[in-house]
Amino acid sequence: MKVLLTGSTGYVGKLVCAGLGSRWDMVGVSAHADEAQGLFRCDLADAEQVKLLSQRVTPDVIIHAAGDKNLARCEASPVDAYMANVQTTINLAQHFPEARIIYISSDYVFPGDRGGYREDDPLGPVTVYGRTKACAELAGLTLSPNFYVLRLSALYDANATFLRFVRDSLTRGEAVNCFEDAYYSPTYYGDFLIVLERLVESQALSRRIYHACGQRISRYFFAKTFARAANLEQSLVHQASRVTEQASFLFADISLENTLTCESLDVSVGRHQEYLSFLEMNS
Ligand SMILES: NC(=O)c1ccc[n+]([C@@H]2O[C@H](COP(=O)([O-])OP(=O)(O)OC[C@H]3O[C@@H](n4cnc5c(N)ncnc54)[C@H](OP(=O)(O)O)[C@@H]3O)[C@@H](O)[C@H]2O)c1
Repeated sequence: MKVLLTGSTGYVGKLVCAGLGSRWDMVGVSAHADEAQGLFRCDLADAEQVKLLSQRVTPDVIIHAAGDKNLARCEASPVDAYMANVQTTINLAQHFPEARIIYISSDYVFPGDRGGYREDDPLGPVTVYGRTKACAELAGLTLSPNFYVLRLSALYDANATFLRFVRDSLTRGEAVNCFEDAYYSPTYYGDFLIVLERLVESQALSRRIYHACGQRISRYFFAKTFARAANLEQSLVHQASRVTEQASFLFADISLENTLTCESLDVSVGRHQEYLSFLEMNS
């Protein structure tokens, strides 16, 4: 199986390389990659460069994990956000018509007002980032019959930004304020890799849209659960409110639901407490 991984130098891409890189004949591509390290360097937002790339590599599957997920930057530069998230997707769908494309999308395609969003729920993004991810999904699904969407909530392994922030602060004896009124469904990286592996290897897929997510939890309880798992001072995790602190880009409930994915791919999801303990034991 020949797999082209876009965004191979990014957070998602590195987890995919580390977890599944040896399973397939995988090659990575990103905008600033070092070709001397066996990667392709290509600005995927540039159609001409993607056309040239399609003459250099013929993948069976493309895992499209390139994009810009920086919410503030996307708000400040919607055109750049469009190029990174939408144009890259259009170019891949047009220049690799034979490849199965698995697009790494996001919970931000939903409005974040009620949570429990299913794979087939209507989209309703309210941020520029979310709009570009939704637009990329729709463009890809329209342009290519081989295009599949895999939505993630915030992905975590031991090095996830939020966990590092909590670990570092508590280790220094500093309190962290975490929102008790912002719910989401963070994705354990191991669950993500299992779903991704099925999407790459299944002969036939019964759905076009999938969710890899964890159990619904508030940011406060997630931090608290992590502190307990890591044997850190739990009392330093303080409750805060996104309403009173006017937090940007954090929603009341942007959690995903994954029953259709679990049924169609025969996968299941464990508990954050066990995953966080496992990560700490092995870090
Ligand atoms: N991280 C999460 O928790 C999460 C959750 C849900 C969805 N996602 C989605 O996953 C994708 C990757 O996220 P990430 O966390 O890995 O981001 P990241 O660490 O910022 O990495 C972004 C990657 O995309 C590449 N890239 C950006 N624009 C490109 C272009 N025009 N041409 C070629 N490569 C380009 C970058 O390449 P260079 O470094 O070479 O510039 C880098 O490899 C995003 O689309 C995001 O929406 C992530």
